Amino acid sequence: ETELQPGPEPTIHTQEAYDPESDFTAKWTRADARQIKRLSDPDAGSRENSMPAALTMPTVPQDFPDMSNGEVWVWDTWPLTDEDGNQYSVNGWEVIFSLVADRSLDFDERHHYAKIGYFYRPAGVPFEERPENGGWTYGGLVFDEGVTGQIFEDQSFSHQTQWSGSARIFKGGEIKLFFTDVAFYRNPDGSNIKPYDPRIALSVGKLHSNKHGVSFTGFDTVHDLLQADGTYYQTGEQNEFFNFRDPFTFEDPDNPGETYMVFEGNTAMPREEAYCTEEDLGYRDGDPYAETVDEVNASGATYQIANVGLAKAKNTELTEWEFLPPVLSANCVTDQTERPQYVFKDGKAYLFTISHRGTYAAGIDGPEGVYAFVGDGIRSDFQPLNQGSGLALGNPTNLNFAGGQPFAPDYNQHPGHFQAYSHYVMPGGLVQSFIDTIGTHDDFVRGGTLAPTVKIDLDGASSAVDYSYGDGGLGGWADIPANIAVNPGGKV
Ligand code: FRU
Ligand code: FRU
Ligand code: FRU
Repeated sequence: ETELQPGPEPTIHTQEAYDPESDFTAKWTRADARQIKRLSDPDAGSRENSMPAALTMPTVPQDFPDMSNGEVWVWDTWPLTDEDGNQYSVNGWEVIFSLVADRSLDFDERHHYAKIGYFYRPAGVPFEERPENGGWTYGGLVFDEGVTGQIFEDQSFSHQTQWSGSARIFKGGEIKLFFTDVAFYRNPDGSNIKPYDPRIALSVGKLHSNKHGVSFTGFDTVHDLLQADGTYYQTGEQNEFFNFRDPFTFEDPDNPGETYMVFEGNTAMPREEAYCTEEDLGYRDGDPYAETVDEVNASGATYQIANVGLAKAKNTELTEWEFLPPVLSANCVTDQTERPQYVFKDGKAYLFTISHRGTYAAGIDGPEGVYAFVGDGIRSDFQPLNQGSGLALGNPTNLNFAGGQPFAPDYNQHPGHFQAYSHYVMPGGLVQSFIDTIGTHDDFVRGGTLAPTVKIDLDGASSAVDYSYGDGGLGGWADIPANIAVNPGGKV
C-alpha cells in the first residue's frame, strides 16, 4: 500500500450485489477519485513519474516496431472471445480486430475515418519466439465500402466510421461482431450541422481459414441494436458531445443463459442543466476535505458525467436488446468511461474501463489508463480498486504538472504520459493497449501500433503490475495470445 497524501476519505462501498434488472447504480464518487491524487508523490520532479510503481505501466521505449508493417494506423483492438472472455484461436490461427486508418492521415484525425480491420498469426507460439512486432499479418478491412452506412436514415453524413466493440465466436466459425456504427454530420470547419449519431450495432459473419491465413464472409448487413434513450443514456439532443459506444457482451455467472452487454455512456441530463448530488460527491460525514454540492456544481465539473451502461439480450441470436440502468456513474468525476468490460475472478466481478487524464472533471486528476471496480455481481455497490481510487494501470505520469496533448506533451511531463491507451484486460491478467505518443515535449513520436503486453495481478480490492513478466514488466509487442484453441490441427 502507498502512504497517502492528505485528502478526503473514500466513500464506503459494500460490494453488495443487486439484481441486474434493478435500478441501483454504483457511484465512482469524487471522494473516491480524489484518492488518485493522494497516491501521487507531491515531490516528484519534472519528467518523473509521481504515481506508485505497482499501478504504473512500465515505460515503453520509443523505438517500437510496427505491427502492420506500415500499412495502417492501429488503435483499439479486441480478440475473438466467448461469453466468459476466453480468447480463441481457430484452426491454428489467432485473430484480432482493430480500429485502423490510412497512414496518410494525421494520427489525431483517425477517429473520423476509423474502420475495423483484422489481423491473424499462427497460434501457440510463446511471445519470445515471435517476430519482434508480434508476427501478425494484416488481413484488410472487415466491411465492404457502404455496408455500415446503411443503417442511418439520414444519408447526408460527412463521415461514416466504425468504432470499437468486441467479437464473439460461436459454433461453425460464426462471428458476431459488435461495434459502434457512427455517422457524423459536420461542416467543413469541423462544427456540427447536427450531432453525430453513434449506434451500438451487430454484424454476423463467418470465419474461414486455410494454411495461408484467415478470411471472412457474411459481414454485409448490420443490425442496429441500441441508440441512446435519453432516460438512462444521454443523447445528442441533450449534449452534442455525448458518448455512446464500445459494446462488450458476456454472460453473468449468476444468471447463466442470459447475455448482457456493457458499453460507454453518459448520464442522461441536458448538458447545461446537469448537476451532481451529495451521493455523487460521496464524502463521509464531517470529512474536513469535503466539498459542497453547490461549489462542485458551480465549478464546471457537471460537464463530466460518464456512465457504464448495461443492456440485456432479448433473443438468443443477440439481435434484440433492452437497456437496463447503468451499472456505474462517474458524475462530476470524468466524462469518459470507455471500452468497459468484466473479468470474473474468485467469485467477484471486476469492472474495467479506460479513462483519459483530459476527461476528468474540475478538481479531479488521474493518469491515462485503465480503472477497475470490484463487487459481488455485475450490478453491485462497486468498490474502486487500490485504496479506493479506481486506478488499476496508468501511464507513467506526473500529476504535479499539466499533461498537454498527445500532439504536444507538456514540457515537464514524463515521456510515458501518453504512451498507451485503450487497455483491454485479457485472461491471466494480461493487458494490451495501443501506443499514442512516446517521448517528451521536445522529442516525441506518435504510435499507431500496439504496445507491449503487460500483466497485472488482481487480489481482492487491490492490483499490482507484475514486473517479473517479460522484460522488466514489458511482454511481447502486440501480444494477444489465445487461451483456448479450437481445432488446433487446422483442418475445418
Ligand atoms: C448478481 C446477483 C444475482 C442475484 C441478484 C440478487 O448478479 O447476485 O445472482 O439474482 O444479484 O442480489
Ligand atoms: C479523445 C476522444 C476519444 C474519442 C474521440 C472522439 O481522443 O474523446 O476518446 O473516441 O476523441 O472524437
Ligand atoms: C478509445 C476510443 C473508443 C472509441 C474509439 C474511437 O480509444 O475513444 O471509445 O470507440 O476510440 O476511435
